[in-house]
Amino acid sequence: MRRIKIFDTTLRDGEQSPGASMSVEEKVEVARMLEDLGVDLIEAGFPISSPVQFEGVKKVASSVERPVVVALARCVEKDIDAVYEALKDRRKDKRMVHVFIATSPIHRMYKLRMEKEEILERIRKYVSYAKKYFELVEFSAEDASRTEIPFLIEAYKTAIEAGATTINVPDTVGYALPDEFGELIRTLKEGVPGIENVDLSVHCHNDLGLAVANSLAAIQNGATQVEVTLNGIGERAGNCALEELVMILKVRKDKLPFETGIRTELIYPASRLLTHITGLIPARNKPIVGENVFLHESGIHQDGVLKHRETYEIMKPSDIGRSSETLVLGRHSGKHALKKKLETYGLRLSDEMFQKVFEKFTELADRKKEVYDEDLFSIVSEVLREPISGYRLVHFHVHTGNNLIPTAAVVLEVGGEKREAAETGNGPVDAMFKAIDKAIGIQPKLEEYIIQAVGSGKNAQGEVKLTLSINGELFSGRGVSTDIVEASAIAYINAINKYLIAKGLVKKGGGANG
Ligand code: KIV
Ligand code: ZN
Repeated sequence: MRRIKIFDTTLRDGEQSPGASMSVEEKVEVARMLEDLGVDLIEAGFPISSPVQFEGVKKVASSVERPVVVALARCVEKDIDAVYEALKDRRKDKRMVHVFIATSPIHRMYKLRMEKEEILERIRKYVSYAKKYFELVEFSAEDASRTEIPFLIEAYKTAIEAGATTINVPDTVGYALPDEFGELIRTLKEGVPGIENVDLSVHCHNDLGLAVANSLAAIQNGATQVEVTLNGIGERAGNCALEELVMILKVRKDKLPFETGIRTELIYPASRLLTHITGLIPARNKPIVGENVFLHESGIHQDGVLKHRETYEIMKPSDIGRSSETLVLGRHSGKHALKKKLETYGLRLSDEMFQKVFEKFTELADRKKEVYDEDLFSIVSEVLREPISGYRLVHFHVHTGNNLIPTAAVVLEVGGEKREAAETGNGPVDAMFKAIDKAIGIQPKLEEYIIQAVGSGKNAQGEVKLTLSINGELFSGRGVSTDIVEASAIAYINAINKYLIAKGLVKKGGGANG
């Protein structure tokens, strides 16, 4: 069995999915969960791109132990310096800088306006520069799969000579076909001097639905590392999905002599946690983690599964940690039991955060007799989302019915100050959103609104996920409550707070600046 390194970029490329941005605290929680899941490397962000990105990388670097923490940089001095600043307190063998420059003709001509020689010169210069601070340096030739092969070989040769310890081959726009991509990897393996001394990594996008197939073809042709994201989130159609690739290797080990360090029984909880945090729900038929994956609708299939499960199932739900809804704990469960339960899902919270989760858990257990795993994920992500600054819903009142105009009144609090407003709308949720807009003095556009039950049964909580467009940028929010109007209001305020935080319009730990 050849061991394949799993380089997870959920926190970098994954976070580039529209609406997937995470706070620093959320990133830390996802990183801890990835560490427990068993990934080898965590790409935590792109430090030069914003102060939140910088802080996120720094915080992740101090919160996980085993994985190598990676951060992205262009072939530019200040980018590499920012990565160094964010990672400098980590052990040298546990930190890596990922430098990239585009190499394809279309990127050279229209984006970079650079000749081949200039690109090679930059690779030489900036990989060497990165090498001054880092033992581990990954070099990516962006849009490698659309680059002329002789030039691509030159580019990787230059990077290795300058000290790169990993060379990464991105199919940036998801254009490659599996046999073609496999052949490219073989050609590089045979043609790049020194390649036998470095890791050969691939990074595939899913624009044609081939990211997983291309990554697999690369492994079969000599790649030693794959770059993946949980639930396949990422730019445009996303990246190679961690859960799909890992389960292919596991389920078809008869044909695929490769192994990873992933604890597959944590895949489903990890996927659910990410879904709760980002608000990006995988399609119901998404392989491995979609809602429908272990449901059998046709009578013939149901009959077959009841007689012998393997007739229609090639893996067990428990292989990926997906049991039928488990009753977590009841209202009399103590802190110890709750902590143990969270730990089985790789959730290691700080004392302060655990205390908040415990309080919300007991509150919920009082309202709802049965608390399920889904409720727990929901509580954890809610606590992670609690605004360290911005607006908080203090009180609301709605008046609705089929023969009257729905009206909502809200009281919000920001930095100790109360703001109140009332509005009418097409329904109670619409009235509520308008009242919030009026209280805050903002005009977001509602782009997406999804409501679903957390768990099952009549007393399930309602979960609202929504996306707002504010000044042309997207911000997602999430709220959970046994009352769906309240869940909607929390999600709405949550998204607005993200905007205010991103724009520096709220003071840390306090209220709005104006
Ligand atoms: O898709 C891509 O090319 C990337 C690079 C930065 C590796 O994300
Ligand atoms: Zn990418």
